[in-house]
Amino acid sequence: MQTIILIGFMGTGKTTVGRALAEKLGLTQVDMDASIEQREGCTIADLFRDKGEAYFRDVESEVLSELLQQDKLVITTGGGAVVRPANRELMAQNGLVIALDATEEEIVKRVKNDPDRPLLAGDPAERVRTLKKERAGLYQFAPIQIDTTGKSVETILAEISDQM
Ligand code: S3P
Repeated sequence: MQTIILIGFMGTGKTTVGRALAEKLGLTQVDMDASIEQREGCTIADLFRDKGEAYFRDVESEVLSELLQQDKLVITTGGGAVVRPANRELMAQNGLVIALDATEEEIVKRVKNDPDRPLLAGDPAERVRTLKKERAGLYQFAPIQIDTTGKSVETILAEISDQM
């Protein structure tokens, strides 16, 4: 089976759904943020603080292209992995891309108290609103689109199966 790539804004459920999907399909889940942290030896928040977002994006792009050379993975990306057009192209060409979404309200509820999301520091609700608007359209290239708001993981998996 080809590699599955889960994309979507922060807090749309990529990691949770990815884990369950990998288990269901007998694939291996790889979380890009966790891979980046392992490779750099620090948290995402530390990386943003010490080396800046551009450096993080470079590492993110490298990790993505390395992972896409393997089969049978469920790759859970960071919410900003789609910002670079080259990454979107790589994903579209090398796997089945599934986009998860959720309402702003639901996202804020899920991410509000997470110190590991540097892009939401300060006023998370305001940051979610602004960033989500800025990124509108960047997740649309995925042939499978799932709204996870208020749904159980089982329901989300069933919706994904229906569209695969
Ligand atoms: C980011 C999302 C985060 C992480 C980093 C940047 C983004 O991943 O990669 O904080 O730009 O949207 P999650 O989507 O898993 O929170």
